[in-house]
Amino acid sequence: MATKEKSGQTTGAAQKKASSRRSGTAASKVEPAKGKLGIMVVGMGAVATTMIAGVEAVRRGLAQPIGSLTQMGTIRLGKRTDSNSPKIKDFVPLANLNDLVFAGWDIFEDNVYEAAAHAQVLKSETLAELKPYLEAIKPMPAVFDRYYVKRLHGTHVKKGTNKRDLAEQVIADIRAFKKTVDRVVMIWCGSTEIFMEPTAVHQTIAAFERGLEKSDIGIAPSQIYAYAALKEGVPFANGAPNLTVDIPALIELSKQNSAPICGKDFKTGQTFMKTVLAPALKARMIGVKGWFSTNILGNRDGEVLDEPQSFKTKEESKLGSLEYIFQPDLYPELYKDIYHKIRINYYPPRGDEKEAWDNIDIFGWLGYPMQLKINFLCRDSILAAPIALDLVLFLDLAKRTPELRSIGIQEWLSFYLKSPQTPPGLYPEHDLFIQSMKLKNTLRHIMGADLVTHLGLDYYD
Ligand SMILES: NC(=O)c1ccc[n+]([C@@H]2O[C@H](COP(=O)([O-])OP(=O)(O)OC[C@H]3O[C@@H](n4cnc5c(N)ncnc54)[C@H](O)[C@@H]3O)[C@@H](O)[C@H]2O)c1
Repeated sequence: MATKEKSGQTTGAAQKKASSRRSGTAASKVEPAKGKLGIMVVGMGAVATTMIAGVEAVRRGLAQPIGSLTQMGTIRLGKRTDSNSPKIKDFVPLANLNDLVFAGWDIFEDNVYEAAAHAQVLKSETLAELKPYLEAIKPMPAVFDRYYVKRLHGTHVKKGTNKRDLAEQVIADIRAFKKTVDRVVMIWCGSTEIFMEPTAVHQTIAAFERGLEKSDIGIAPSQIYAYAALKEGVPFANGAPNLTVDIPALIELSKQNSAPICGKDFKTGQTFMKTVLAPALKARMIGVKGWFSTNILGNRDGEVLDEPQSFKTKEESKLGSLEYIFQPDLYPELYKDIYHKIRINYYPPRGDEKEAWDNIDIFGWLGYPMQLKINFLCRDSILAAPIALDLVLFLDLAKRTPELRSIGIQEWLSFYLKSPQTPPGLYPEHDLFIQSMKLKNTLRHIMGADLVTHLGLDYYD
């Protein structure tokens, strides 16, 4: 709202100040995105190769970055009557797609072209056009242990005397890559590891480092990569539901080294729909008795999730959203006894073209029962690739933002994740539209623009 003088008139200077605050041109301390942004991808499978090939296709003008908020989204600034909604990428200083450089690790030697062809997400004609670029990206040997992903048997792996030695090898990879680019972000697009809970080794940085030395079983490969990234001041995103940075030791390291982190597990298909529908049912005080979700998919991710211990990790991540959205403690008559069941079935003929069904048993006025059925025929990696891209671009932005870089968890990125991460004692916000508002208000805030509260009473002054 414009600053009013005592007389009720708005002066030219005050008007200018208010208008620059509304548009976010005055107070931003965000560093510009100069030079090349290096993206280190752990696991160059379906999601990673679809993201990398997609970025190259967009750069060459062969396709549109559909599904990417950073590339296509706009942000309203000021009042509705101001008609000022620039593109997000023109409002905040994000790395330009032309400045992205990819590197990564995998347990298989396939270059990105071969891995993308194997994943069968993108058409062979599309891949053929991009072949020379994709072929040139070859994964570095991975940190891998079958104990944590039982269905895979990798050959392209690092050897080390203990887990500390492996972490140091990853640090050496990061340092070598840093010499070729200006900034680096890391993202886990690797497989889902077995279900793990925090133990003593995860409580402090010192305990974690002793654990690396002793090759403690509580430290999974994803945590070795994350430790290496955070140690190097590199932001880290986690596309899988693995425990990884959801432990006090790595949260502390993230803060200490100004290396932002966020929640985990890309929110793509069924959970994306859940976090849209459940808030709508709750907003109208419609009761829910049961929510049955099942999926068939036939990609490598499906094969890994067919193994019970990896499935358990995914199940926990998918289960969380409803309980938090429905707040059964506040609304016991409506949501106390929801029967929530999730199934993932590995079905090879379907490949990456997952099909998800939801049956929702609901009840309305006077308790009368009704049903909702959702059948989502999605393409897993087509939905996940733009999320992976947005996460790395926003984490890089967070690293360049004085107010955000040292807070550790970037809760404003929960929008993209099935399992948002929060400071201790705070419940995670799963409602997609609250998450979207939080993200956009964070961008307005760091750029010195007025927040949009949707109150709107000033239109009636
Ligand atoms: N596609 C989606 O919609 C979606 C949504 C949410 C989460 N995810 C998660 O994203 C991850 C990637 O999915 P995807 O479909 O690309 O799977 P994918 O199986 O095609 O790719 C995973 C890759 O990671 C590699 N890998 C495994 N362990 C590794 C390690 N320790 N170091 C380096 N590489 C390693 C595998 O060899 C494989 O190439 C999975 O954990 C999946 O659960 C995907």
